Amino acid sequence: MSYLTSVPVVIILVVLGLSEVRVVLGFPGGSETQLTKDDRLGPLHSTLGLLSLRSSLASVKDVSKPIRSKRTAREHHITDCIHMTSEEGEFYHKALSVDGQACGIYIFSEPDQNIELRFNYLDVPCENGGLVSVVDGWELRGEFFPSTRDHQKPLRARFNEFCGERKIKKVFTSSQNVALIQYRMPTRGTSFSFTVRFVKNPTPCNVFFQSDELEPIYTLRNYGKRVNCSLSTLFPAAVNTVALDVGVTPSIQRGIQLETGTIHKCQKRGLDDYVEVGGSFGLDNRYMQVADSFCGLNSKPGKYPETVFCETTTVRMVSSGSFDNSVTVHLRQIGENDIDRHLSVVCLPEDITEE
Ligand SMILES: *[C@@H]1O[C@H](CO)[C@@H](O)[C@H](O)[C@H]1NC(C)=O
Repeated sequence: MSYLTSVPVVIILVVLGLSEVRVVLGFPGGSETQLTKDDRLGPLHSTLGLLSLRSSLASVKDVSKPIRSKRTAREHHITDCIHMTSEEGEFYHKALSVDGQACGIYIFSEPDQNIELRFNYLDVPCENGGLVSVVDGWELRGEFFPSTRDHQKPLRARFNEFCGERKIKKVFTSSQNVALIQYRMPTRGTSFSFTVRFVKNPTPCNVFFQSDELEPIYTLRNYGKRVNCSLSTLFPAAVNTVALDVGVTPSIQRGIQLETGTIHKCQKRGLDDYVEVGGSFGLDNRYMQVADSFCGLNSKPGKYPETVFCETTTVRMVSSGSFDNSVTVHLRQIGENDIDRHLSVVCLPEDITEE
């Protein structure tokens, strides 16, 4: 655990989003159509980044509620390059101008829902690098949520790429509550359309948390399986563990388990099941700075929250499969008022840390 007592204001401003970040919408692997290297969506020089995702998110929050409650079946016409939505229905994009830019439609649902996508039609010729890709998860600047180390499928299998004028019969279902459609339009007037539907996920593992509630509470579970599950948010957060049962309750025979309290440094003690709380600058928790790591059975832990001042806050639960694990966390978004306090983790943009 490292506590920083004072943090220069400049750095805080950068962390809060004044940094210029570059989007790299890469399309590695998995192709329906054979694509040459030149056809792929390469690195983009753009000022879009997590900041633009976050601001898209803010606008989603403003509009989604009333529309969602009315359940109107209107067609959504996508015009902005980075588009964020939490709505079901029909979506449509037609290229009005062409600049060779890769764009993304970021879709999210409730934590206990997966996203089902089907194409109504595709008219995106393969020339000039024209391409549409369905991604199982979110990708930004070459980083993924869920991280490749937490996803059941290999990265190649998380991409489905298409181009041409064709009918795509396949129905895509995401493995978690976020999915992405990346595209690059080859010529003016080309278009595609797809339908989004949310389906129940009875055993959610990885969740991207976007709650309208001010202080959400969520429980990560492994359902007795050998899986790594993580919860990530797109905001700096104070993470309080409300209940902990990790590495104690056997997944097969159940008996009475005694409270062990919160145990730290579980990995060093040779325990394979543990929770990590931390933050990272991008979407991938592989690069996360860990504020605390713990396991045990504790019904009333955490008086002191971990404060994570990063673009992305993550709670990650590693499960060997031998135990029925769960961890319940309470999240509170932190802002400028919190920077005078002790912060458990502060993420610095790469260009600053390198200096
Ligand atoms: C879960 O993560 C741990 C440590 O990061 C890794 O050793 C293990 O192989 C992962 N388990 C699965 C099922 O991917």
